[in-house]
Amino acid sequence: MIVKNICCIGAGYVGGPTMAIIAQKNPNLVVNVVDINKERINQWNSSDLSKLPIYEPGLDKVISETRGKNLFFSTDIDKHIDKSEMIFISVNTPTKTYGDGKGMAADLKYVELSARKIAKVAKTDKIVVEKSTLPVKTAAAIKNILDETGSGVRFEILSNPEFLAEGTAMRDLEVPDRVLIGGNESSSGKKAIKALVDIYLSWVPKDNILTTNLWSSELSKLVANAFLAQRISSINSISELCEKTGADVEEVAKAIGMDSRIGNKFLQTSVGFGGSCFQKDILNLVYIARSIGLKKVADYWNQVIIINNHQRKRFAKRILTSLYNTVSGKKIAFLGWAFKKNTNDTRESASIYVADLLLDEMANIDIYDPKVSSDKIYRDLNLLASRTENENKTLLKVSQNAYDACENAHAIAILTEWDEFKTIDWNRIYNNMNKPAFIFDGRNILEKKQVEKIGFIYKGIGKS
Ligand code: UDX
Ligand code: ADP
Repeated sequence: MIVKNICCIGAGYVGGPTMAIIAQKNPNLVVNVVDINKERINQWNSSDLSKLPIYEPGLDKVISETRGKNLFFSTDIDKHIDKSEMIFISVNTPTKTYGDGKGMAADLKYVELSARKIAKVAKTDKIVVEKSTLPVKTAAAIKNILDETGSGVRFEILSNPEFLAEGTAMRDLEVPDRVLIGGNESSSGKKAIKALVDIYLSWVPKDNILTTNLWSSELSKLVANAFLAQRISSINSISELCEKTGADVEEVAKAIGMDSRIGNKFLQTSVGFGGSCFQKDILNLVYIARSIGLKKVADYWNQVIIINNHQRKRFAKRILTSLYNTVSGKKIAFLGWAFKKNTNDTRESASIYVADLLLDEMANIDIYDPKVSSDKIYRDLNLLASRTENENKTLLKVSQNAYDACENAHAIAILTEWDEFKTIDWNRIYNNMNKPAFIFDGRNILEKKQVEKIGFIYKGIGKS
């Protein structure tokens, strides 16, 4: 099959950047990204590139080069499914919040709706590519839905998991460590795989494109994220040991990371990992293992989540005990709300959980994040339903800069490692705070000695 038109269902953190790069590298292809969310599509079409719905360094440049030429954003889902030879499903797959598998399994509602839509609309043969992270064997479910149409249209399903990390998505897409494509071993499956390989070959070296069977591809995505998250939980568990023993976790991480078998990446201790993938994918892995009776395997991976939750709670508890066991009525400034720097994404950010615990203690929190809107911050907290919206509004403020957020605060908690936090005027901040003034550095971005020289009481993670 010759692919000339691509449709991507879902204009989010994965669909948007991925399709922008595919369009940029394949000027002969027409790429339409569709979404049910009209406001999101309007933002993608905004002439002001600072209004794109997601913040991702370098994305605006690629959008300005491609949008309106061979990249289009639209809500006309049916039309673009119909006229495309290849359809990517890039919708969200959050953890289920109801029913069987609640809190563990991935909610495939949006994927299934997309498959049903394709089944209903398609009049010609299609290659359907799973881009969303999915449980193993989802491809089989999608195939069932598509084959039940009775329209005679043939569908070939591929799995092409996305490995981009937010904040570095454009680079990850331009120079991927690998592109993984899973498909059926039949002759039509092989043809479909080749069609997708050809698209990537426009910029990815052949040796970096791996082809596997469908199930290996689906499982590899979950396992890659589980391994990455496991490293963070491993170093975070050691951070607690360091705080109690006088060792410094940064020194330990450097020492072990120089062993080439261990390697030095993903050993940055933190207040806990966040993001839309790690927790969801591990829960999914645990759910799959448990469902097929592999209890020990499930328990092993579940421990990664247990340590991550513990790390968030431990951080909030340390603030509470350091502030003489009461934060009621005290102001605590939060620097950062996003789950990591260089993104406006807050999904599963540790900051949400740390704030929740401190608000339970009746602290007054004042937040500054360079890219997250105050609306989003309130929405994140209101979703937890721990307090009424009014209570959250009373206890929590959002400021437009770090100086305002920290004014008259008793303590500062650094939740996101934004570069600008390293270069703010810490003397000025200190002078306008209640004394003793504490810094709880959840990302270890500041030099202990330097801030202590100013007068702060500094508490880094994994440092006594
Ligand atoms: C992750 C995977 O890296 C990516 O391949 C996959 O496609 C999606 O999930 P992402 O969640 O966007 O990407 O960001 P990542 O850089 O992996 O960070 C996840 C979380 O771990 C962040 O909260 C980050 O701050 C934290 N982290 C990361 C650490 O605490 N320490 C580290 O050493 C690295
Ligand atoms: P991800 O990080 O996986 O890209 P996002 O939540 O950022 O997740 O994006 C997923 C997008 O998919 C959202 O913009 C959402 O509106 C869209 N979406 C979900 N279900 C459908 C559907 N059935 N049809 C079209 N778009 C959908």
